[in-house]
Amino acid sequence: MRRIAVLTSGGDAPGMNAAIRAVTRTALAKGWEVYGVRQGYAGLIAGNFVPLGARDVSSIMQHGGTILGTARSSEFKTEAGRSKALHALGSFGIDGLVVIGGNGSQTGAYHLSQMGFPVVGVASTIDNDLYGSDITIGVDTALNIALESIDRLKVTATSLERAFLVEVMGRDCGYLALMAGIAGGAEAIVIPEVETNPDEVVRLLSEAYRRGKSHAIVVVAEGAKYNAEALAAHFREHQGEIGFELRVTILGHVQRGGNPGAFDRLLATWLGAEAVEALARGEHGVLVGQIKGEVRTTPLAEVVANKKPLDLSLLKLNDVLAR
Ligand code: F6P
Repeated sequence: MRRIAVLTSGGDAPGMNAAIRAVTRTALAKGWEVYGVRQGYAGLIAGNFVPLGARDVSSIMQHGGTILGTARSSEFKTEAGRSKALHALGSFGIDGLVVIGGNGSQTGAYHLSQMGFPVVGVASTIDNDLYGSDITIGVDTALNIALESIDRLKVTATSLERAFLVEVMGRDCGYLALMAGIAGGAEAIVIPEVETNPDEVVRLLSEAYRRGKSHAIVVVAEGAKYNAEALAAHFREHQGEIGFELRVTILGHVQRGGNPGAFDRLLATWLGAEAVEALARGEHGVLVGQIKGEVRTTPLAEVVANKKPLDLSLLKLNDVLAR
C-alpha cells in the first residue's frame, strides 16, 4: 500500500471531517500518499482527486459537513459507472480506498470491492441505520440538535398550552425520533418501524391535556407513514378532542448542519484511523464501526445483507415515562 484515496458519500454527517483528518494523518504517518476525492462517487467517476497533506486537514475537525464535498451518485449504481471509477483509481495509482458514509455509500463500497478493489468503509450517517456499527458518525450531534429544538419548542408550547408535532430526519429508520422523543420527554413518538394508528396519538394527546399537562410534544420520523404533514391533517379533524392547539415544526436538514460534538469527533477519529490500519494489514472489503464499545470490522457483504434492529421496547418505556 503506497497511495490511498478517501471520499465522503451520501448525506453529510457531523464528524466526517474528523474522519478525513484521521485517515489522512494515519496514512501519512505510514509514509503513504493520500488523495481526497471530491463529491463522493461522482468525483470518483470523474477523476476529481486532490492530494491531501497534513496541513490540508488542519483545523477541520471542529466543522460540520465535509471539506471534500459529497454526493448521491446514481451513475455509481451502474456497472459502467463503477468501471469508470476503477479506471480513475488506476490512473492515479491508488492502491486502496476509504469510503466514509452510510447505507447507500457502503453498498457502493461493497460493489467496488466485489470488482477486486481494496475498499474499507467508515460508518457515518445521522440516521444510525447501518449494520456493523452500534452508533455511526454524526448521530450524537444530530440528536443533540433535535433535542435543543425540542427543549425550545417546549418553552413556547407551555406558554400557550399547545401541542407540537416535531418531525426529525430518518427516511427509513426511527432511531433519531425514538431517542429524541425519550430524551426530550415526548408524549408520543411515531416511527416507520411501527404501524401507528393516528387516533391513538389523538387519544394520548387528549389524555395528556386532561391530566393537566401544559404542553405536549409528538416526535415523528420523516419516514413514518404518518409523518408530520399526515398527522397534522388528521389532528385538524380532531382538534376538539385533543384540547391543545396544534403547531408543526419540521427540523429537516438543520439536524445535519451542526458542528460535531466531542463524541462524534472522537468516534470519527477512532474509526478513520482504524480504516487505515485495516488497509495496512491487508484487510479490506470491510466496514469499520463501533460494536459494544470497541472498534471492529464487519465484512461489507454482511453489512449490506442485514438491517440494523431498533430496540422497540423503548417505545413502551416512553409510554410509561410520558405520564
Ligand atoms: O443522510 C441521511 C438523511 O439525512 C436522511 O435522514 C434524510 O431522509 C436524507 O438524508 C435526506 O437526503 P437529502 O439530503 O438528499 O435531502
